[in-house]
Amino acid sequence: MSSSTEGRFVRNAWYVAAWSSEVGDQPLARKIIGEPLVAFRNSRGAVIILSDTCPHRFAPLHRGKVIGDQIECGYHGLRFADDGQCVFNPRPGGVLTAANRVASYPVVERDTFVWVWMGAPDRADPSTIPAFPWLTDGDTYVKTAAATMVQRLPVELIVDNLMDLSHGAYIHRDSLNAYPPDAHVSGTVTADVTQDGCEIHNLVQRDGTDFYLHTFFRDSRTVADNGTVDLWTDTRFNAPTTIYFEVGIKPPGEPRAAGEFFGSVHALTPCDADTTEYRWLVFRNYAKGDPGLTAEMEKLVGHAFVTEDEPMIGAVRDRMAGRDFWSMRPITLAGDQGAIAARRCVERLVEADRIGVPASVRPR
Ligand code: FES
Ligand SMILES: [Fe+2]
Repeated sequence: MSSSTEGRFVRNAWYVAAWSSEVGDQPLARKIIGEPLVAFRNSRGAVIILSDTCPHRFAPLHRGKVIGDQIECGYHGLRFADDGQCVFNPRPGGVLTAANRVASYPVVERDTFVWVWMGAPDRADPSTIPAFPWLTDGDTYVKTAAATMVQRLPVELIVDNLMDLSHGAYIHRDSLNAYPPDAHVSGTVTADVTQDGCEIHNLVQRDGTDFYLHTFFRDSRTVADNGTVDLWTDTRFNAPTTIYFEVGIKPPGEPRAAGEFFGSVHALTPCDADTTEYRWLVFRNYAKGDPGLTAEMEKLVGHAFVTEDEPMIGAVRDRMAGRDFWSMRPITLAGDQGAIAARRCVERLVEADRIGVPASVRPR
């Protein structure tokens, strides 16, 4: 790992390396927490992830090609098996030893994602991968296309942005018709942050409100006779960098299961200290026969990310100018608990990596 990423990222953690659909039998280059990786599928269809640096003269292996279960370096033709062992040296006499190998990484394919474990292989526990069951339930939900953005932003500032949805009223006021901060609305508001290991829930409910007309619910029938609904936003953070949140409405007093909601998945993968791969999609359990709404969600949310969130987060990064968050003495307000808990949790995991003890990262 380069010195600029040392101690900055959680190493003993699962990261999303790709959508499952991205990985085929051609080498795919990736960089995660500063480490160059190459991904491909072997002859059995399993996703393989190896170090992308050939140990001979350090050519990127992704410039080579996949041959069956092996990847051949494009420089001098060494071949590596899918466990990282060098198994073929084309030169006369081509002797190899067990030490001639590249690192291989534990991989799990689940819920349309390829997850890679960047830490000590013997500590890889697939049960700690956050679950996204909605993504494979095509009967209950319709979803937008699997999207990937590459943002020149540090991952922790994107997490900060997603853990404080109150920004929507300002940044996305026009684009997403988010809740206007100065509107008069009825209803009672409750906010609750709960934490289980390094899974954090930030639930905000506005019960019996006459404000429900998020643009994506405009055709909704989930409104009581008196014109009110219960509105909820529920954000789930899984350390180090995965976020899910849903926005829903339901008839007052009914359980959530009676409601309509859209969920969004934000799988953030830090390439290095400056750049993040951001995979996202939006799904919903209502108006499923309306492809126009799906297209609109995809367009508007993507637009909001790129033209509204990204420039603001970039401006924050520039203003922070590499300084430590806490050293700048940020004020902490009611409503900041979720974002602060997420940041503290990541710091705790980085410290656990440093001193070499397992930290608690429980699954949902
Ligand atoms: S650099 Fe890969 S075979 Fe020489
Ligand atoms: Fe946003």
